[in-house]
Order: sequence, then structure tokens, then C-alpha cells
Amino acid sequence: MARALAEAGLPSVFSYAGRTAAPVAQPLPVRVGGFGGVEGLAAYIRAEGITHVIDATHPFATQMSRNAVEACDATGTALVALERAPWVAGPGDRWIRVPSIEAAAEALPEAPARVFLAIGRLHLAAFAGRPQHHYLLRLVDPPEGLPLPHAEAIIARGPFTLAEDLDLLRSHATQWIVAKNAGGEGARAKLDAARELGLPVVLIDRPAILPRPRAETPEAVLAWLAHPADLGV
Ligand SMILES: NC(=O)c1ccc[n+]([C@@H]2O[C@H](COP(=O)([O-])OP(=O)(O)OC[C@H]3O[C@@H](n4cnc5c(N)ncnc54)[C@H](OP(=O)(O)O)[C@@H]3O)[C@@H](O)[C@H]2O)c1
Repeated sequence: MARALAEAGLPSVFSYAGRTAAPVAQPLPVRVGGFGGVEGLAAYIRAEGITHVIDATHPFATQMSRNAVEACDATGTALVALERAPWVAGPGDRWIRVPSIEAAAEALPEAPARVFLAIGRLHLAAFAGRPQHHYLLRLVDPPEGLPLPHAEAIIARGPFTLAEDLDLLRSHATQWIVAKNAGGEGARAKLDAARELGLPVVLIDRPAILPRPRAETPEAVLAWLAHPADLGV
């Protein structure tokens, strides 16, 4: 999306929440950090004369999406969400779909297992009540401490390939995978690798987000920028 905006020569600013130590460089001016809630975001929109907001965050970053809806409502600013379609199970997939991270922890077996916990860093504590498992984590930054007794962290940033994820799962003798239904290509290799190895995946469904116009591709967002009325809510 950032590349498409830069190539189109549209004056834009890229806003990072600041969760990772060294965010990926972007071909747009970048700002980092929270705004101070809805009021802070609304004040920024007014001060910078922002006319359009593209919510391009991760489908599980619900606070960012909620703040965007409310701040755009308050300021009368056009808003669109760039949201990838969720992943859908195909032949050979062994997915157990659950509604939340807590339900994912409950879906793991009682007997000790080797689990690839591919959910990022923020909600690992939900698995503290299942300490019998060995957890493999893949994180962008080295953790300062982990809330799980048997956990091993690999430091890596996606996108990942099928070959890399097959190698990861085989070399760690992984038996279960826990993942969020993020959609898109960059994070789906682990699901393809699980299918190839016949492993069960506990897949967490997306949380509900307030209704707002959606587009699935950067091209569709560019079309919306030209004609915002074409996308309904
Ligand atoms: N959640 C996930 O599973 C997940 C997975 C992969 C990547 N990520 C990425 O990690 C980042 C944070 O995700 P999260 O789940 O921690 O987010 P979150 O809980 O939804 O929001 C975190 C905070 O970000 C600030 N914020 C809101 N809108 C913002 C904006 N446009 N730019 C910068 N900051 C904004 C808000 O703080 P103030 O109230 O102070 O404004 C908000 O409380 C996102 O960029 C997301 O794409 C998240």
C-alpha cells in the first residue's frame, strides 16, 4: 500500500504503533507511536489536514481499527480498511477453529505436546495455564522474559516461505500449531507446512471490528481514494 501511494505521488504519512524495535523502512514519511486515544488521533487528523485514512493494520489490532472509526466519525474524515480475506481451509487441512486466544489454549491436548505458538508476543500469558507443553515462539524482537516455563523463542521477521516453515516444524519436532487467521500470503506458509506434515492447527478467528468500508487490495484502495462513494459500509 505504501509503495502504491508513493508511486501515485499522493501526499501520505505512514503511522506505526511502535511495537517493534526497528520497523521496516517505508517509501513514505513515517511517524511512530500512539496518538493518545480517539481524541489524540482526531486532533492529529485536524492538525495535519488529513482528508483520507487507510486502516491497514493487522486484523487482530482491534484498538487501532476502533480508534480510526471513531476519530474519522468525529472529524468527518473518509475511512477505508485495507483488509485481507481470511484464510479458508482446503483439502488436507486439520484446523480447529476457535473464537479467542483463551479458547485456543483450551483446545490444546492434555498430554504434553510440542507446540508452535505463532501468535506474537503480547498474549502469551493466555497459555500459562497449560504449562505441560513445550512452546516454540517466533518473535520479531528478543523477548525480555517469557510467561511460559518451557518456551524457546526464534527471532525472525516474515514473510516466510514454505521451505523455511517445513524446516522449522521438522527441526523442532512440532506436533501442534496455534495461529491467528491473519489472511494474506506473508504468514500462511506455516499453514501450508502443517498440511504437508499432517499437523493439527488451532486457528483463532478474527475479532469483530466496527463496520466500515473495506478493500482487499492496494489497487482497490487507490480506486476508493479517487471515488470514496463506490465502497459501501
Ligand atoms: N495484534 C496482532 O495480532 C498483530 C499481529 C501482527 C502485527 N501487529 C501489528 O502490531 C501493531 C500493534 O498491534 P496491536 O494489536 O498491539 O494494536 P492495538 O492494541 O489495536 O493498538 C495499540 C495502540 O496503538 C495506538 N494507535 C492507534 N491507531 C494508531 C495509528 N494509526 N498509528 C499508530 N498507533 C496507533 C493506540 O494507542 P493510543 O491510544 O495511544 O493512540 C492503540 O492503543 C500494529 O501495527 C499491527 O499491525 C499486530
